Amino acid sequence: MEVIKVRDYNEMSKKAAEYITSKVKSSTCINLGLATGGTPLGLYKNMVLDFQKNKTDYQHVTSFNLDEYVGLSEDHPNSYHYYMKENLFNYINILKSNVHLPNGKGVSLKKECDHYDKLIKGCGGIDVQVLGIGQNGHIGFNEPGTSFGTKTHVVKLTESTRQANKHFFNDMDEVPTHAITMGIQSIMNSREILLLASGAEKGVAINKLLQGDLNEQFPASILQLHPNVTVIADEQSLTSHISIQDITT
Ligand code: F6R
Repeated sequence: MEVIKVRDYNEMSKKAAEYITSKVKSSTCINLGLATGGTPLGLYKNMVLDFQKNKTDYQHVTSFNLDEYVGLSEDHPNSYHYYMKENLFNYINILKSNVHLPNGKGVSLKKECDHYDKLIKGCGGIDVQVLGIGQNGHIGFNEPGTSFGTKTHVVKLTESTRQANKHFFNDMDEVPTHAITMGIQSIMNSREILLLASGAEKGVAINKLLQGDLNEQFPASILQLHPNVTVIADEQSLTSHISIQDITT
């Protein structure tokens, strides 16, 4: 695992955007795995700025988002479909037909999950997966205790995750109780992973990610077994570290 230590959220966002746009520019066809939440907002902002300035082409890019709430339609302002359009897709030239998120409004959610895995596989798998990390170590919506072998599935959200997401909603009652998420195995199948972290509240999680034991109670720990993970983390999220051998600054 390579750790790139940066000063703050802005620097993390710029570095992450450089990382992704250089992959996009140097490929003729690339599948990106994307995340939502607060952490990648700056990444997407910088990708949009880069598109405006440098005209980076996204017509050969296919995207797969990690997750979507169950019960929210694509045009619901709190759906991840909406988030992605508002923060990235509407401002770059990615083809609408190349954009994929799980369908949380499907009649059979199980079928939607299987379909999503097949779609990713059919497109050749994910080249670079962007991840944030939950304070309890969740990746995607894979909460502590999720089997490392899971594919895309429906999850019941924990109270702590619902609390952490409530600022996107008017009140707690509106925060969905379930989501569809790519599974841990689906994430591990990505050829490359870029995990972003910023802020002291992520300190414990980053510490466990880098130095803790492999444990299903801390889902992100599985990334220790992935051959190609880059973590871009700011100073605040790394403060609890005493020794990291492989920090690149
Ligand atoms: C988002 C996702 C989640 C977030 C995590 C961190 O698609 O899958 O795992 O990455 O909850 O969220 P933020 O970035 O808001 O701290």
